Amino acid sequence: MVNLTIDGKLVTVKEGTLVVDAARQIGVDIPVFCYHPKMEPVGMCRMCLVDIGRPMIDRTTGQPVREVDGSPRIQFMPKLETACTTPVSEGMVVVTESAKIKASRKEVLEFILTSHPLDCPICDKGGECPLQNLTMAYGPGKSRFLFDDKMHNQKHVPLGDLILLDRERCIQCGRCVRFQDTVVDDPVISFYMRGRALEIVTHSEPGFDSIFSGNTTDICPVGALTTIDFHFKARPWELKSVASICTHCPVGCNLALNVRREAAVGGKVVVKRVMPRQNESVNEIWICDKGRFAHHYEASPARLNQPLLRKQGKHIPVSWDEALDFAAEKIKHAGNRLLTLAGGRLSNEDFYNLHRLTTARHGKPTLATYMAGGDLTGKLGLTPGSNLADLGKGSAILVAACDLHEEAPIWWLRVKQAAQRGATLVVANPRSTRLDLYASHRLMYAYGSESEAILSLLPVASGSAAAKSLAEAENLVIFFGSEGLGLEGSARLARACAELLIQTGHTGKPNNGLVGVWHSPNLQGAWDIGFRPNPSLVEDIRSLAGEGAAYIVAADPAGDDPELADALKQAGTVIVQDLFYTETARMADLVLPAAAFTERDGTYTSGERRVQRFYPAVTPLTGPLPDFAIAAKIAARLGVNLEAQFAPLIMLKSIANDIPDYAGISYPRLAEVKPQYPILGRMDVYYGGTSYDNQHGLGITLPNAAMRRETLDLPPMIPTSQQHLGDVFLAPITRLYDQGITLQPSHLLDARKTQPVLGIHPRAAAALALSEGERVAIEQTGRRFEAAIHLDNTIPYETGRVIYLTLPRSCRLPANQPGWVTLNKITNQLPVEG
Ligand code: SF4
Ligand code: SF4
Ligand code: FES
Repeated sequence: MVNLTIDGKLVTVKEGTLVVDAARQIGVDIPVFCYHPKMEPVGMCRMCLVDIGRPMIDRTTGQPVREVDGSPRIQFMPKLETACTTPVSEGMVVVTESAKIKASRKEVLEFILTSHPLDCPICDKGGECPLQNLTMAYGPGKSRFLFDDKMHNQKHVPLGDLILLDRERCIQCGRCVRFQDTVVDDPVISFYMRGRALEIVTHSEPGFDSIFSGNTTDICPVGALTTIDFHFKARPWELKSVASICTHCPVGCNLALNVRREAAVGGKVVVKRVMPRQNESVNEIWICDKGRFAHHYEASPARLNQPLLRKQGKHIPVSWDEALDFAAEKIKHAGNRLLTLAGGRLSNEDFYNLHRLTTARHGKPTLATYMAGGDLTGKLGLTPGSNLADLGKGSAILVAACDLHEEAPIWWLRVKQAAQRGATLVVANPRSTRLDLYASHRLMYAYGSESEAILSLLPVASGSAAAKSLAEAENLVIFFGSEGLGLEGSARLARACAELLIQTGHTGKPNNGLVGVWHSPNLQGAWDIGFRPNPSLVEDIRSLAGEGAAYIVAADPAGDDPELADALKQAGTVIVQDLFYTETARMADLVLPAAAFTERDGTYTSGERRVQRFYPAVTPLTGPLPDFAIAAKIAARLGVNLEAQFAPLIMLKSIANDIPDYAGISYPRLAEVKPQYPILGRMDVYYGGTSYDNQHGLGITLPNAAMRRETLDLPPMIPTSQQHLGDVFLAPITRLYDQGITLQPSHLLDARKTQPVLGIHPRAAAALALSEGERVAIEQTGRRFEAAIHLDNTIPYETGRVIYLTLPRSCRLPANQPGWVTLNKITNQLPVEG
């Protein structure tokens, strides 16, 4: 620790702290433009100049020179120094307010303003602009320059399809370039030219090709960078901020939904933009572009807004009473032949009520997922007190069977940063992914041998360098996904990862544990509450013929899999509860409209097992109801008493009582906050940008069996049942911009949405006489789908009969499960229209 004085106040901070950060810790705000607390300083703008004195040292004795009263003599530099590049030192004296400093701030601002347009009245940043604020605080009252003499530059320059650049507003601070370069390692924008002609350009194709691009608009200290969907759409002071959680992946990034009452939609409150909310244990102050730009589904005109009952073959709008009576009647007659199939976008409160309703009727609560392992993450999940930001030298991270960059971008960012801080990173995957660049060890295995690959890392099994570094690491976090795996394979993989954690002693302590890279935001919560995937779903749905009932909530089995669609045709009754009129809804007897997450409150449990609360943000559609409320209203008609009004009561009175790991959790506890570093604030946006400080809850990480020192019995290893029956292994992979139902209504992302593509190694393609872009049809167990060929030499190719093909998961193609297909079933097709 280092002691210094800032503006007369004694401060003690860690060695290496910069003067600007030390000052902030005691509430002294030194104005900055180019400095950002999450990036290395560059000292470019000179806005942060302060007076710095240091104890004078006698050169002959090497001892401090003392004043007559015995205090050290302080020697100030003749010129001011930049607070953003100067680290603190023992005995330092910093002065941040003086006539000299005021004059320097005024001059720097006047200089910056010589080439800045007078756009404030129409600028998107107006109202939350550091340049505006600091000019008001320190700037000259008027300009000595004539407006016409200013440098004029191009406005509204699209940097790619999501970000707009106003060239004449740029103050050349370099924050955006440095963020892309050093934080997310996507150096796709840079400075071009010199002096006043300097401008930001993109040199990727497509432009600004990064999944983190929106963050640059938060940290740009002026209105030079704006997101295309917010451009000219609202003024910051009209916006209210509502705390929320991203629903697009298991990271659970904390969001601030900026909402406004909108005349164009009859005075309703709508989301105008999505901003990051600081949670240093989850997403720090960043979000990915999917989280920022893919929220439009909640306000889509295609949303279901009234119950629909099939009458004489047609869906007819009916009242909620009629719909609920019908649902209850059918569920009653189904007896124990009730199957509730629920998807991972539901909240914990929804899952709880659905589970209770289903089990009260002796039905089967079933999770709509192709990935297993949630029971083991429940036992060995990240221990409370964990933070990926704490992992560095001495720690290890294993990432298995997933592509974090595409599946959970902020985890990718944080794991990459841990590796850059010195953590040992082992990446185990059958093909290359972007995380490989930072890996200390790469473990490439053949699809189908995931668990064997992980077990080969056991200290007893292997003397490999990777195994040794995992065994010897102080901390070990394992992320496991489901690439190339179905339920059985992912269960085997999770078990192998759990065994590795147990055998290397990495359980029950902070910064250790198992994390599932789920394909939905709340699959972990579903597992915790008791939902389980069902390997014999097709047969179970078939068994609902006659009077059985399928109650399908937030899932689209018919859209995902024609075999399930066929099975559903035979079910006695199909009740669908969803946001949209899905394929499954089309064939349902009853369709119930559900509320979106922006219209209600609830909680999600992230992949790190952090329970986090989201709040109602917009005017809800009049028809739909929250999923938990619909389940409770059906339950009430069947004599089962469940909370139908208030989500907080479900957590307080039911989940916290019935699910041991959730004991003691309540909405007020989830809303607790504590100081976070760096200290962000909305009034001084110049320091950290426009991301929001967290005033509405940091969430709670659940305890696990390992920390309670419970016996950690693992389920027996299921022997692999996969038979190599074909020549080509088809491995669906997950892409960030998939074809999922919650991404489709965000047309801004259309150009980035994944098209059905079959990735194939060039040599494999040559053997099959296939070329880039060619369309092919593949048949797998009687199902047929079409895709374009993409040659990809990062996909493994084994000579002989094994050739891997990958295609994006969630393409709403039949083959959501990996498997073998036979070569002679592949036939070249003429290009397919559309
Ligand atoms: Fe700085 Fe914004 Fe210019 Fe980038 S565009 S250099 S963040 S002012
Ligand atoms: Fe949302 Fe995941 Fe992106 Fe975070 S990383 S913003 S949770 S999609
Ligand atoms: Fe310090 Fe720019 S030089 S903030």
